[in-house]
Amino acid sequence: MPITLKITPPLEGVLCITLNRSEVMNALNTQLLGELADTLSDADSDDKVRAVVITGNTKAFAAGADINEMAERDLVGMLEDPRQHHWKTITHFRKPIIAAVNGYALGGGCELAMHADIIIAGENALFGQPEINLGIMPGAGGTQRLLRAVGKSLATQMVLTGEPISARRAFEAGLVSEITQPELTLERAKAIALHIASKAPLAVRLARESLHKAMDTDLATGLRFERHAFTLLAGTADREEGIRAFQEKRPATFQGH
Ligand code: HXC
Repeated sequence: MPITLKITPPLEGVLCITLNRSEVMNALNTQLLGELADTLSDADSDDKVRAVVITGNTKAFAAGADINEMAERDLVGMLEDPRQHHWKTITHFRKPIIAAVNGYALGGGCELAMHADIIIAGENALFGQPEINLGIMPGAGGTQRLLRAVGKSLATQMVLTGEPISARRAFEAGLVSEITQPELTLERAKAIALHIASKAPLAVRLARESLHKAMDTDLATGLRFERHAFTLLAGTADREEGIRAFQEKRPATFQGH
C-alpha cells in the first residue's frame, strides 16, 4: 500500500495518482519514485487502465528531488542511485499520462511533469529547473525534454539561471497545452484522460508511440514508423468497429483488440 501517493482505483479507464508528501512540497524521494514506478508498472498490464492522471496539491506538483536525501549521496552513491531505475520505469510506461500541475513544478518535479504526454496547468503553476542554484544540473530529462518542448533559448535561460517560468509563459512556449483556474486543473485533466480512455486502446498506444518517435528520430524514420503503425491498425477489430460505427451513425464501442 503506497504511503507517498494517493491512488484512486481506475474509473472508466482512468487511474488518478496524487503525490502525497505535502509537508515537503511533494519532494521526490526514493520511496515516492519507487511507489510511482510500481504503480505505473501494475497499470501498464491492467486492462482497466487506459490513461493516467498524475497530480500534486494546490501549492506544489513537486518541488524536485528530495534535496536532503540527495545530500546523503556522494558520487558513487549517485551512480548506484535506485531512483535512476524508477525514472526508467516511468519513462517506459506505455499509456497516456496527463499531468495536472498546480503550484511548483521544479527540478525533478518539472521533469516528472515532462514525462507526461499532456500537461494541464493551473494559473498559479511555476515551472523551473533550479538545480544550478545547488551547484548541480537537471538529471531526469530537464535539458533534453525541456529543450524539445520550449526551444533552445528559453530552455537554456531556465537551466542556466534557475529562474522559473509562469504557467502563461509555459503555455505560450508549448510546454503545457491548457491553463485553467487552479481549482479546475485536476477536473480538466481527468476529462481529457476520460476522453482518451474512450478511444481504441491499440490506436492510442501506436499513435502515442509514433508521437514519441518524432521526439527522438529523424523525419524519414518517424514517417516510416507512422506508416507501419497505421497499416498495423488495419488488422484490428476496433478499426472495423470504428468505421462501421461511423457508417451506422452511432458511437463506437472499442474492445482493445
Ligand atoms: C526537500 C523540500 C524541497 C526539496 C521544499 N522542501 N522543496 N525538501 N527537497 N526539493 C521542504 C522545505 O525544506 C520545507 O521543509 C518545506 O518543504 C516547505 O518549503 P519552504 O521552502 O518552507 O516553502 P516556500 O518558502 O514556499 O518555498 C517553496 C520552494 C522552496 C520555492 C519550492 O521550498 C524551494 O526552493 N525548494 C527547492 C526547489 C529545488 O531546488 N528543486 C530542485 C531540487 S534538485 P521544512 O522542514 O523547512 O518545513 C532536483 C534534481 C533532480 O530536482 C534530479 C533528477 C535525477
